[in-house]
Amino acid sequence: MLIGAYSKEAVMMSNLASSVLPTRTQPLVADALTTNSFADDVRAGLTAHPKTLLPKYFYDALGSQLFEAICLLPEYYLTRAETEIFETSAAEIVAQLPEPITLVELGSGSSRKTRLLLAAALARQGSLHYQPIDISETILAQSAAKLLGDYPQLQITPLAADYTRGLGALTRRAGERILVLFLGSNIGNYTPAEARDLLRQIRRAIQPGDGLLLGADLKKSAALLEPAYDDALGVTAAFNRNLLVRINRELAADFDLSQFTHRAFFNDALSRIEIHLVSQRAQTVTLRALNLTVEFQAGETIHTENSHKYDLAQLATLAEETGFAVARTWFDGERRFSCSFWQAISETGR
Ligand code: AVJ
Repeated sequence: MLIGAYSKEAVMMSNLASSVLPTRTQPLVADALTTNSFADDVRAGLTAHPKTLLPKYFYDALGSQLFEAICLLPEYYLTRAETEIFETSAAEIVAQLPEPITLVELGSGSSRKTRLLLAAALARQGSLHYQPIDISETILAQSAAKLLGDYPQLQITPLAADYTRGLGALTRRAGERILVLFLGSNIGNYTPAEARDLLRQIRRAIQPGDGLLLGADLKKSAALLEPAYDDALGVTAAFNRNLLVRINRELAADFDLSQFTHRAFFNDALSRIEIHLVSQRAQTVTLRALNLTVEFQAGETIHTENSHKYDLAQLATLAEETGFAVARTWFDGERRFSCSFWQAISETGR
């Protein structure tokens, strides 16, 4: 069913069906990544009111590396908190499903934290099929090569795709349970309504008895949240502003980087960090590849990202609405971050 959506090579791969897929480090690339969706989405976002851009476009080669740097910042506690949970509980987490399992990861990036789960699964079942899905082909290829060097018993099927396409391509071998990993509070990029849609898509891609491991950042004071998205070194600002660098390069645009600044604030009513790019003056930007000019007023913003913060009651409701039962939740020592094992149940939560 998804054959039409993939490259020739991917079609050949899918003809292998569920016979043994070779381990590979070169990701399969979904067509949508190489066609015009970036151009179309940028046009739609910059002609909308208010102006917006989609956060998935942060992750070009440089943007993915800048995100890796964010994860090392003192202010960005999320990655350290989730790593602490895996250091303490990886064995218990993978034991939520009977062996053998296959691990599918949405937004795998460098897979650094995931190593703790991969190692725990390998300790239990000896070999493991890992299916990382990421929008960045370069980081996927790099991390697959490194993982194979470090874990020879791993079989990897990397897929460069967005989540929707990636979920259409996951595979299960005889007797395996699927554990979908959706870590790092990636769910936070979605509004609650969008999150429900995505979780239902995940639920439809798996079977009752399979599971989802969901890492979600918890609601806390603006005084703790805001520095995590506006760090003293300016790495998050660079991550945000790199989107303009990317548009300049890929769409022949002339954004003047000195005239756009980073802004991050906690929107309490919507329980989310919002990230914007702020035009420092009235200005006109031309995107030659789109044959488009865009006017900015002084102080006008492009809304580039939401990062929603949840409480446990909201997460439980979300599970219930999407065909899952929350079986277990782990926290870091300071209870800043949650990681929950959701069991797919037969009601798909219409
Ligand atoms: C990768 C979406 C989880 O929202 O915390 C970090 C992205 N943006 N700093 C987040 C991000 C700015 C991150 N997620």
